[in-house]
Amino acid sequence: MTTENIGFIGGGQMAEALIKGLTQSGSYPAENIYVLDPSPERKDFLTATYNINTIEDCGAAFATCQKIFLAVKPQVMSLVLQNCQGIINEDHLLITIAAGLPISSYVKTLALPRLKIIRVMPNTPALVGQSASALTASPYVSQEELDKVQNIFNQIGTTTVLEECHLDAVTGLSGSGPAYVFSFIEALIDAGVAEGLNRQVSTNLALQTVAGSVELLRQNGEHPAVERARVSSPGGTTIAASKILERSGFQAIIMDAVAAATEKSKELGKGK
Ligand SMILES: NC(=O)c1ccc[n+]([C@@H]2O[C@H](COP(=O)([O-])OP(=O)(O)OC[C@H]3O[C@@H](n4cnc5c(N)ncnc54)[C@H](OP(=O)(O)O)[C@@H]3O)[C@@H](O)[C@H]2O)c1
Repeated sequence: MTTENIGFIGGGQMAEALIKGLTQSGSYPAENIYVLDPSPERKDFLTATYNINTIEDCGAAFATCQKIFLAVKPQVMSLVLQNCQGIINEDHLLITIAAGLPISSYVKTLALPRLKIIRVMPNTPALVGQSASALTASPYVSQEELDKVQNIFNQIGTTTVLEECHLDAVTGLSGSGPAYVFSFIEALIDAGVAEGLNRQVSTNLALQTVAGSVELLRQNGEHPAVERARVSSPGGTTIAASKILERSGFQAIIMDAVAAATEKSKELGKGK
């Protein structure tokens, strides 16, 4: 059985994360991967690092590959789609990772009502093979096609298939989520320093505390509230700190932050 070619329009960070996941896991042959990027240096780097092929323009990309990843910034997507008009047909399968742009915007710009397109919202831990990605597909994508694309994203982390109406919430939670976690870690580090710890020691302790807590939740499968109760001894240090978090509305702040990002994603999707 021959492996079909896949192409990437845009060879930036996210495309590289996917290419790295596919080639290093051995799940996709490098000779079947093509990338289009305006920067000759970038193309040279990707070819030299991953042994993949480069391609010169959209026409060549869609002639060579039936499955194409759109991995450019949302701001340049309409330009890319305009360049692809008349080149993309309803046999191609598009996979877009651009934040905020709904499937209907691709259908409209390309004037292809039966467009096969999968919209994916990954997040930056993709760069270290730890993405949380959510996928949604247009009605013309077959289950087999969706399974294959889901498997590609499984090479860079975990995946969930959802209806498109949930993608704004995904953007608010996991798409923007790494930034909330980074803020929390930054605060922990500074707190340690404020209490007299050396910055490096504080950083190591904060990072391992977060990583270890995630692993504990994963392995025990308990609700976070259960684990929180377990570390809160009567009259102890943890419950004293928890009282401050409760009083300052810590959980409500996080929920409001996710709601604000979700709302922003909805606005961007409407072109606001
Ligand atoms: N990074 C994230 O955390 C994240 C998370 C979820 C979704 N996404 C989405 O993933 C997409 C890619 O993000 P990224 O972080 O990988 O961005 P990036 O590193 O800037 O990559 C985009 C690449 O596309 C190239 N490009 C620009 N115009 C092009 C064109 N007309 N044809 C072909 N290639 C072109 C850029 O080249 P130049 O730099 O030379 O312009 C750049 O190499 C975005 O839509 C973003 O919303 C990113």
